[in-house]
Amino acid sequence: MPTAKIAPSLLSGDFSRLADECERMLGLGADYLHMDVMDGHFVPNLTLGAPIIKCLRPRTKGFLDCHLMVSRPEQWVDDFADAGADLLCFHYEATEDAAALIDKIHAKGMKAGMAIKPKTPVDVVFEFAPALDQVLIMTVEPGFGGQAFMAECMSKVSELRARFPDLDIQVDGGLAPDNIEVAARAGANVIVAGSSIFKAPSPEAVITLFRKAVED
Ligand code: DX5
Ligand code: ZN
Repeated sequence: MPTAKIAPSLLSGDFSRLADECERMLGLGADYLHMDVMDGHFVPNLTLGAPIIKCLRPRTKGFLDCHLMVSRPEQWVDDFADAGADLLCFHYEATEDAAALIDKIHAKGMKAGMAIKPKTPVDVVFEFAPALDQVLIMTVEPGFGGQAFMAECMSKVSELRARFPDLDIQVDGGLAPDNIEVAARAGANVIVAGSSIFKAPSPEAVITLFRKAVED
């Protein structure tokens, strides 16, 4: 099992102080900074794009884990690479040529991730997994923070973990102290969480608890 990586979703942070929010999360023990990119087309919400990542880059050394919830993700690879993204995760449902997109992301010097929505079967990932640095199994319908965790997605995590023991498997959506055990037991090691970290009285305690659940 690869190491635990805890990735607060900045979608739940204060966008007017994004750099400070990133530094705050890193100081509390975060491993990744999860940046939710939404285009109002692939998902019914609009957030941020490469220009904001570019402004952020000189203000943080944190690992920028960019989750692209956009149609035709291939058109943004150059911009995100130039902006300084560390990992670009696209949705399987949003592209017609995942293999070419993975190559393009790698050629631009970034790590490549592929995400699947709750209704997409995990089998579609298998042929691409050897080329991927991370697979994201969504545990809510992408588009908004604060939704309820879908435990039924955990069988996809276990199936993927059984086939790919060393793969970074990320879960995103509704992760919280009351379901982290289920996710960790299924084999998830990269934990994204927005509301449960940012709204907690002690975000640090939640990050520590998530890490412990993955490592135990
Ligand atoms: C949802 C995003 C998530 C979201 C998670 O489409 O991909 O990263 O910010 O937020 P919570 O943890 O509040 O569900
Ligand atoms: Zn996300």
